[in-house]
Amino acid sequence: MPLLEATSLSKRYGDTAVFANVSLTVDAGEFVAIVGESGVGKSTLLNCMAGLDTVTDGTVRIAGRDVTSMAEAQQALLRREHLGFVFQAFHVLPHLSVAHNVALPLLLLGRPDAARVAQVLAAVGLDGLGARLPQTLSGGQLQRVAIARALVHKPQLILADEPTGNLDPATAERVLDTLCHQVRQEGAACVLVTHSRTAAARADRVLTLAADGIRAG
Ligand SMILES: Nc1ncnc2c1ncn2[C@@H]1O[C@H](COP(=O)(O)OP(=O)(O)OP(=O)(O)O)[C@@H](O)[C@H]1O
Ligand SMILES: [Mg+2]
Repeated sequence: MPLLEATSLSKRYGDTAVFANVSLTVDAGEFVAIVGESGVGKSTLLNCMAGLDTVTDGTVRIAGRDVTSMAEAQQALLRREHLGFVFQAFHVLPHLSVAHNVALPLLLLGRPDAARVAQVLAAVGLDGLGARLPQTLSGGQLQRVAIARALVHKPQLILADEPTGNLDPATAERVLDTLCHQVRQEGAACVLVTHSRTAAARADRVLTLAADGIRAG
């Protein structure tokens, strides 16, 4: 069973089409990159695949379950259990420390684990910063908090929206290594949205999103 199965997705705002006819299947242990020009709808597509935005047409299945026809509360539970989502705009909670932000998915699952939080912070190069508040961090550090939070509970499906956009090449490489580890060693499925050809090159498949659909290459 694929971890993510998107079938004939389309999204419109009134008369304006963002994308149409997007189908995509991602299996466990598979790393897929989606590229495409700014404004083509990559973030919208990722949000729709997570059930964080609604599609105009089509269906999304996560771990075999139809997200598109699910009530919002059920979607939230499914996300909590199976999904790690890296937002392009981070969405780190400003009043919580770095460590508390990263610990949140584990707390929501009733599985607090300070050692795992420390491990994932170290993996993205943030060891020693756990007690800091987000406002004291750089943009690239904040981005890595968002990545650590998405990975801390070892989700089966990782959806990452431009996760290396604010990082220098060496730090980007380290973050991509961490994502790849989740896929290759832990068997997660990952969809990475990026403008970076270097980041996309780490994926098993690269897809280009355009207004009329999604295609290989
Ligand atoms: N509420 C809205 N009403 C109308 N159009 C919208 C709305 N929200 C987003 N859009 C449009 O949808 C399109 C897709 O936006 P999206 O953020 O998904 O692009 P993107 O491919 O992620 O771009 P980038 O690479 O810059 O992050 C854009 O052209 C945007 O202007
Ligand atoms: Mg975007």
